[in-house]
Amino acid sequence: MEVITDIASLRARLQHENSIAFVPTMGNLHAGHLSLVEIAHKQADCVVVSVFINRLQFSPHEDFDRYPRTPLDDCRLLEEKGVDVVFMPDEKILYPVPQEFQLLLPYMADTLEGACRPGFFRGVATVVLKLFNIVQPHVAVFGEKDYQQLQIIRGMVAQLNLPMQIVAGKIVRAGNGLALSSRNSYLDADACRQAGELSRQLKQIRDSIISGEQNFPLLEQQAAEELSSHGWVVDYVAVRQQDTLLPATTSDSRLVILGAAWLGGVRLIDNFLITLPPSIPSPRP
Ligand code: PAJ
Repeated sequence: MEVITDIASLRARLQHENSIAFVPTMGNLHAGHLSLVEIAHKQADCVVVSVFINRLQFSPHEDFDRYPRTPLDDCRLLEEKGVDVVFMPDEKILYPVPQEFQLLLPYMADTLEGACRPGFFRGVATVVLKLFNIVQPHVAVFGEKDYQQLQIIRGMVAQLNLPMQIVAGKIVRAGNGLALSSRNSYLDADACRQAGELSRQLKQIRDSIISGEQNFPLLEQQAAEELSSHGWVVDYVAVRQQDTLLPATTSDSRLVILGAAWLGGVRLIDNFLITLPPSIPSPRP
């Protein structure tokens, strides 16, 4: 495995590769990230993983400075997973001058996470586009854990005609249902015990919808109240259409239930996808 920190060396290393699968990350790797590496191996000969904590996607009051940085452990895990190249640039390599050219994103980036974290997806899309231009992969792998991010990247690739394919990986969870995340390390012992509740509530909504419940606002409200009563501060619980992330209607069959909430000062996000059988139109009177 080669660890490369500058763009020219990376391009030279990759120029004769037949097919490249790319997994962008911010490091502090866990089994969720590593599951994406496994998918990447099935997609191409050469697997490239980037580790870069992208300041552009953090607001000034967010956790950029304390975001966990574990480059040695990350490299060890990636080596064990048979990764070919790790791209680990310094900030000055990706942002040698202030990044004044940024992307203008659609409505999908202003709702849910975008509403709670203004500018977040512009920062994500800008760095991901830069990384795509640097690595020039045939395939890039993203986790469903960050479902809205995945949909925005899919839209960017489609609408900007990037010559590559996006592949999605399922959410990897801990035993209590908690979706793995680098930010889980901020949870104290008490919060850790409580942390599975977010996924339980979202799953409960999924099960109710599968059983035929169609009052989505009521389900959202009940789950939010349940979380609040367990000490969570809820940013949103929402039933949306999978493709557009617009509020779901009862005629939609491809739904996603998303939630974001704070527990003990730590913000967690999660989601569940449902595909319902197509509804049978009621007979004409
Ligand atoms: P990061 O949070 O490090 O996540 C990197 C990738 O791992 C993302 O595609 C994310 O969805 C995926 N991932 C994280 N936890 C997962 C889990 N439990 N199961 C499956 N996949 C999981 O997402 C980012 O970094 C950044 O925004 C980035 C795209 C690198 C741009 O800076």
